[in-house]
Amino acid sequence: MTTPKQDAARAAVLREQLNYHNYRYYVLDDPEIPDAEYDRLLRELQGLEEKHPELVAPDSPTQRVGAAPLAEFGKVRREIPMLSLANAYNEEELADFDRRVREGLEAESVEYNAEPKMDGVAVSLIYRDGVFMQGATRGDGTTGEDITSNLRTIRAIPLRLFGGGWPSGLEVRGEVYLPKESFEALNAEAIRRGEKLFANPRNAAAGSLRQLDPRITAARRLDIFCYGVGKVAGGALPDRQHQVLERLQSWGFPVCPEQTVVQGADGCAAYYRGMQARRDGLPYEIDGVVFKGNGVREQERLGFVARAPRWAVACKFPPKEETTLLKAIEFQVGRTGALTPVARLEPVRVGGVTVTNATLHNMAMVERMDLRPGDTVIVRRAGDVIPQVMGMVESRRPDPLPEPFRAPEQCPVCGSAVVRPEGEVVAHCSGGLYCPAQRKQAIHHFAARRAMDIDGLGEKLIDQLVERGLVESPADLYGLTREQLAALDRMAEKSAANLHAAIEKSKQTTLARFLYSLGIPEVGEATAQQLADEFGDLDAVMAANEERLQQAPDVGPVVAGHIAGFFREPHNRAVIERLRESGVHWPAPERAPAVRPLVGQTFVLTGTLESMTRDEAKERLQRLGAKVAGSVSAKTSCVVAGAEAGSKLVKAQELGVPVLDEARFLDLLHEYA
Ligand code: IVH
Repeated sequence: MTTPKQDAARAAVLREQLNYHNYRYYVLDDPEIPDAEYDRLLRELQGLEEKHPELVAPDSPTQRVGAAPLAEFGKVRREIPMLSLANAYNEEELADFDRRVREGLEAESVEYNAEPKMDGVAVSLIYRDGVFMQGATRGDGTTGEDITSNLRTIRAIPLRLFGGGWPSGLEVRGEVYLPKESFEALNAEAIRRGEKLFANPRNAAAGSLRQLDPRITAARRLDIFCYGVGKVAGGALPDRQHQVLERLQSWGFPVCPEQTVVQGADGCAAYYRGMQARRDGLPYEIDGVVFKGNGVREQERLGFVARAPRWAVACKFPPKEETTLLKAIEFQVGRTGALTPVARLEPVRVGGVTVTNATLHNMAMVERMDLRPGDTVIVRRAGDVIPQVMGMVESRRPDPLPEPFRAPEQCPVCGSAVVRPEGEVVAHCSGGLYCPAQRKQAIHHFAARRAMDIDGLGEKLIDQLVERGLVESPADLYGLTREQLAALDRMAEKSAANLHAAIEKSKQTTLARFLYSLGIPEVGEATAQQLADEFGDLDAVMAANEERLQQAPDVGPVVAGHIAGFFREPHNRAVIERLRESGVHWPAPERAPAVRPLVGQTFVLTGTLESMTRDEAKERLQRLGAKVAGSVSAKTSCVVAGAEAGSKLVKAQELGVPVLDEARFLDLLHEYA
């Protein structure tokens, strides 16, 4: 047992260590300990604070997550307003800025601190005696919103400053941003779900910061770079911008590593060009660079015009997003049959490149954005990524508005029906065996080792067979002659003969392999096996409706929709017919498959069986129609307990679930054999 005094002392040590490791990780990018060790220290501190709630301090690293949601944000007034920057859009305007500064200072050449212009959200952070007290958005400059709880979740923000010599009252300003990787991940997830996209990292950062529930902010992986100070009391800072930033960094504030001192207009122009060239390779988004007269005394002499300082300028880069007219929506069919909607656009320059097409990701996104030809859309081009349509400008909709856009009912490549089971984000062409867009992939999949296992039929050969028009569907493989094979590039007589024999040999297969080889979306090996077990023969699978298909274990509505859609397609039925005519066959089922006495029952296997492995037991149960689950619940119908059964057996007894020992389990299997 520890005394409260010992606990308090330990908590103080932990807080200090955690703050230090946080700084190493987030500010210096040079962690000293593994993440797991950090988590261990954090958990220890959490434990102590739970035991003694009076130990919870505002600078405790435990306070970064979990604050309760707010009803609304409070207001924060600043003595020194947060201003904006005058813009320059090219080197000429940059030279004009430098000229004005030189004239104002009556200097021949001026030294500037050059900094990336972060594309994020401006915030101010207030520290009292080195402890983070309050953080706010810029708002109208003078009055911002109190987002302290959300800012605490940003691990890069120091909760207590390092070293010493800081002013007792210190307001630091900076830009909260979302790293590109986190932004892409956030949007990729939204695309997968067919949800609304964030148009750019800045919107995503702003949206994440202005969450009334800090737990949402905490999940978003925001970061910050600090670029200046506001009100300073009870202490002084260096008189050069560059040294101010160095000082801030030494106290634990993250400062952009790209900031540097440059001399005169030429130095500015070189930095501007250099950063523009490196822009796409940076892990965060920047929309320009900022030049600030380096001397603080000189800054004071120059003063302000309107709401911007005379001593600083933002030199902007070409934007990464633009708006343009959506002329049409067309569809591309991928190798897997997925239909990707593509926007045909009025050509527009984005980030220095002309964009005429952009991806719309999937049909769910088109519906979600309610896009219709004639709409004005926001197009974004990030680095080498394919341009994307991020959203639609509601206030610029065409009048009259065309009917809502619908996915085509037929594949634009092969004319087969398009299927999109309820709840699916992506629409698929159902002509898997027949569609030219899917041809190479379909044949490759058909011939794979776990499918029809045609030894020696690799990707390069498939490419040649398709490109020479010898093979359009898997059924054509069985009509190939030795001579045709020998005429392919890099094929000798002997290898042609081997391949021919391998094709012949593959005719003898199993129903499960055959079903798998068809390449039906969402039907992997396990599902193919379950279908084979459930139905016993191909005609029965082909005739089953979606409801019947769902009686197979693990086949839900989406998978059933794909299977039914595939077999409804006359093109596929024709290919399957030809495959059977060419001699593809499999053994007839051993037993009438319709006897499935355990349908609707869930079994759990535990302990060791002597007469069979657990996998075998599982398979035997599934053949009889049972589901086999991994854990016992009130819904479990029966637990089969072998030797040394443990907690699952205890749970079954607690819940009153029937238990079979091995002998009674074997009796059950024999009864239905
Ligand atoms: S200095 C008086 N430095 O750009 C000086 N601002 O229009 C005011 N920004 O919302 C700002 N990176 O949040 C400065 N390195 C940087 C910056 C930067 C991004 C943002 C800032 C403000 C806007 C200025």
